[in-house]
Amino acid sequence: MWKSRWTFIFAATGSAVGLGNIWKFPYITGEYGGGAFVIAYLACILLIGIPVMIAEVMSGRAGRSDPATAMRNLATEAGATPWWGIIGGMGMIAGLMIMMFYSVVAGWALDYVAQSLTGNYHKASAGDIEANFANLLDSRPGQLGWHTVFTLLTAGVVAAGVTKGIGKAVDILMPMLFAFLLLLVGYSAVYGDFAAGLHFMFDTDFSRLNGEAILVAMGHAFFTLSLGMGAIMAYGAYFPGNASIGKTVITIAALDTIIALLAGMAMFPLVFANDLTPGQGPGLMFVTLPIAFSNMSGGLFFGTLFFTLVSIAALSSSISLIEPGVAWLEKRGIKRVVSTLGLAFVAWLGGVASIVDGDVFNALDYITANILLPLGGLFIAIFVGWVLPDKRVLTESGMAGGQLYRMWRVVLRYVAPLGIIAVFLNSLGLLEL
Ligand code: PHE
Ligand code: NA
Repeated sequence: MWKSRWTFIFAATGSAVGLGNIWKFPYITGEYGGGAFVIAYLACILLIGIPVMIAEVMSGRAGRSDPATAMRNLATEAGATPWWGIIGGMGMIAGLMIMMFYSVVAGWALDYVAQSLTGNYHKASAGDIEANFANLLDSRPGQLGWHTVFTLLTAGVVAAGVTKGIGKAVDILMPMLFAFLLLLVGYSAVYGDFAAGLHFMFDTDFSRLNGEAILVAMGHAFFTLSLGMGAIMAYGAYFPGNASIGKTVITIAALDTIIALLAGMAMFPLVFANDLTPGQGPGLMFVTLPIAFSNMSGGLFFGTLFFTLVSIAALSSSISLIEPGVAWLEKRGIKRVVSTLGLAFVAWLGGVASIVDGDVFNALDYITANILLPLGGLFIAIFVGWVLPDKRVLTESGMAGGQLYRMWRVVLRYVAPLGIIAVFLNSLGLLEL
């Protein structure tokens, strides 16, 4: 049991920690004005993300199948309509849509492995480093090549059926990533404008928090924890029979949050020390961190290693984006290799569209994170909170009815669903938060 609990922890952490933490969190924090956005994001992790994550792991363990089949079976057992399976199916599509821009960004990270290796940005000025990223965005063949490499890597792992196995790489990856981020925060504390960076991230000016910002903060809580599309549900099947889900989930969410905050604390001091714009968008990580690597001693070596780690973290997330769909097709008698290649090809095509047209990239990111994942999460919260019988939930959660269990139950039934609905209505201007 001990062993399989770790299988779950490694797989779920591998899925959660990825580009969402290191690339996306800092750049949207920059775009939506800093501190108040960070608070909104943390509140969403706590009040919506963690309770929904527990619900997903629980359903996955109870259903022991791909998300669509698991929800369908659980619903039927509970005397509800089998149509609940649609929620799992919707999640598979959302996963595929995320893969369509995720692999493009992972491709950028691979490009920066090569750039670090060849010393392309060695001792370069901040301006040159900015131009460097702009060049990559201008180069369709370059992006296409790396996007293809990353898609093939993901497909290779999934087709070989070693998704569980790569979870073990997380064992080495996470401590290294953590150490690297600490090193970078240290660098920024000494050579960046640390005070300005921290003020930006943690001063809370709530007047900057409009409906859109709150929606993006909530969407990111789902995205960063891999929720609302069945990835965590699929991994829940590894969770051993009667171990408690609550504490494990809280630990994973805390780790994910700390990594995101460290990434922000490494980047923003460099933004302010080098007169860059915090809200410059998706290039933030690729413009700030190379400044640090370009100047520190041994920087190219560290840069190579860091972008390699980021790429591996992206890989352990991307496999969980297509695994649910592959598992579902496999259950329908389609060979694993065939279904993997099929889904990877669809995702690859979407990635090509994202490279060719930035609007496609942005739309895929926006629709999945801010609409599809919260919607999936809303239905999962209602499903576990209201549709599944109390007794079943109590035994399956393994939380023995203690205080943590009772708190989770209330938050899952009321706070999370009403919170999601309120944020949706607020962003549509139909409700004033
Ligand atoms: N959580 C991953 C990240 O932060 C992205 C992801 C989203 C993975 C949804 C799987 C499902 O990078
Ligand atoms: Na994450």
